[in-house]
Amino acid sequence: MSSITFEATVNGRPVRWEVPAGEFLTETLRSHGLIGTKRGCESGDCGACAILLDGVEVNSCVVLAAQASGHDIVTVEGIGDARAPHPIQEAFVDAGAVQCGYCTPGMVVATKALLDENPTPTRDDARHALAGHLCRCTGYVKCLDAVELAAERTANADAAHGGA
Ligand code: FES
Ligand code: FES
Repeated sequence: MSSITFEATVNGRPVRWEVPAGEFLTETLRSHGLIGTKRGCESGDCGACAILLDGVEVNSCVVLAAQASGHDIVTVEGIGDARAPHPIQEAFVDAGAVQCGYCTPGMVVATKALLDENPTPTRDDARHALAGHLCRCTGYVKCLDAVELAAERTANADAAHGGA
């Protein structure tokens, strides 16, 4: 199979990877150790594979590596990890929104995209942001609670640092 050179910024780090031509970005990321990006439906319907591409949430299972080459990519690992969790990740845990956890990375990415755009979302904004993220476990209410909690904590952290 022919290959392409994939060059991008991934979680703030420049990368240059040889990847099979026609490979989708989920596979590219996962095969380079970024397994927080989950493989679910692989047809753009479940949100498990969500990442930020130039700051915009996309489902990486429907983006070719070739299309993402040259761009800025942030995966859930770039938002935070177990040693240094992001307040959004802590909010999901504290709100009881993590059960099996399969959908959680995608939901965290969606919440990051939302709060970057709109730090004070309404419940409907949160609902809209998480639409397209399937969860078999939580019934969604706790996920919406987590988004609200994350927004609150982010606003408080900004206030404590003298921000808007
Ligand atoms: S795995 Fe990409 S949207 Fe489901
Ligand atoms: S926590 Fe299991 S799919 Fe969402």
